[in-house]
Amino acid sequence: MTEAFGRVLVTGGAGYIGSHVVHALLERSARVVVLDDLSTGAREAVAEGAILEVGNAGDRAFAVAVLRRHRCQAVLHFAGFIVNSESVRDPLAYYANNAGATRTLLEACVEAGVGTFVYSSSAAVYGAPDRVPVDEDAPLAPLAPYGRSKLAAEWMVRDTARAHGLNVAVLRYFNVAGADPAGRAGQVSRNATHLIKIACQAALGLRGGVEIFGDGYDTPDGTCVRDYIHVSDLADAHLAALEHLGAGGESLTLNCGYGHGASVREVLAAVERASGRKLDVRVGPCRPGDAPMLIADTRRIRKALKWRPRLDDLDAIVTSALGWERRLVEAAARS
Ligand code: UFG
Repeated sequence: MTEAFGRVLVTGGAGYIGSHVVHALLERSARVVVLDDLSTGAREAVAEGAILEVGNAGDRAFAVAVLRRHRCQAVLHFAGFIVNSESVRDPLAYYANNAGATRTLLEACVEAGVGTFVYSSSAAVYGAPDRVPVDEDAPLAPLAPYGRSKLAAEWMVRDTARAHGLNVAVLRYFNVAGADPAGRAGQVSRNATHLIKIACQAALGLRGGVEIFGDGYDTPDGTCVRDYIHVSDLADAHLAALEHLGAGGESLTLNCGYGHGASVREVLAAVERASGRKLDVRVGPCRPGDAPMLIADTRRIRKALKWRPRLDDLDAIVTSALGWERRLVEAAARS
C-alpha cells in the first residue's frame, strides 16, 4: 500500500476536508507533509504522524523547497477560500487565493518533478444546472467569483497536465458535511456559514436559531436541495483517485456526491432528531447565488474509481457533526 501513495503533500491539511484526508492517508501508511498557512485551519487539526510546514501554497519558492526536501511524489491541493458570499464582496482575494495560488503551486510541482496532482474543485462550477443529477459534461456556469475561481483553477490543472505530463484528478465536491466517526477531526472554522454546522450550533444553544434562506424555490418543499456527502467518504474518494493515478490510470474529472439530495427543512429535521431539541426556525429572504437544486450524477466516480460510499445517510452525517460540535464545546469549557 505504501507504494501506491508514497510521499504526499497535502495543502490545507489543517483545514476541514484536508485534515480528514491526512488521517485516511496515514492509516494507509502514506508519508504525509501538510503545507498550511493556518489562516483558517488549526495546528491541532493536523494529525500526529504528519509533518507540518507552515506557509502559503501560493509561495512558489517555499513550495518547491518543501516538495524537494520531502521528495513528494503527489500533491493534494485543498488550500483555498470557500465562502460564496464572501467571494462576491472580495472577488480578487478569491481569484488570488484559489486561482492564482493554484497556478503558482502547479509551477512548483512542475519544477520539483511532482507526477500526480489532485485538485479540490466544487459543484459551484455548475452554477444552477438545468437538470439534476448533473453530470461532469454539463455546462459550466458558476454563479459567483468563488465558483469561477475554482473553474479557472480547473483549466490550469488540466492544461498543465497536458503540457507537462502530470496525472491529475479534479474532484468536484458537492456539500461536504459531517465529521470523522472516530472523533479525530471535524469542521474547525469558528465562523460557520454552512447549514449543518449552524443548525448543530443552534441545537447546542450556541446560537438563537436557524434562518432558512428562502422557501419559495421550485423544489418539493420550497427550500433548496443539496447533495450532502460525508467528509470521510470524500476522503476515501481521494485515496481511490491517488491509487488510480498511481497505477497509471488516466487523468479525470469527477463529481463527489451521493446522487440524491436533502432539502434545508429535511436537514433541520435530522438535526432535531439527532439532538432531541426543537430548533427555533424562521424563514428569511433567499441568499443571492444559491442554486435551487444541486445533486451529483455519480456514475463516473463509481465506475472509474470503484468508489462506494460507506456513510450515505443524512442522520449519520448530522449525528457525527453534532458529536464534533459537542466536543468543541467541552474543549472550550475546559480551556
Ligand atoms: N442555508 C440556510 N440557512 C443557513 C445556511 C444555509 O437556509 O443559515 C441553506 C442555503 O441557502 C443552501 C443550503 O442551506 O440552500 C446549503 O447551504 P451551505 O451554505 O451549507 O452550502 P452551499 O450549498 O451554499 O455551498 C456549499 C459549499 C461551497 C460549495 C457548494 C457546492 O460551501 O463551497 O456547497 O454545492 F461550492
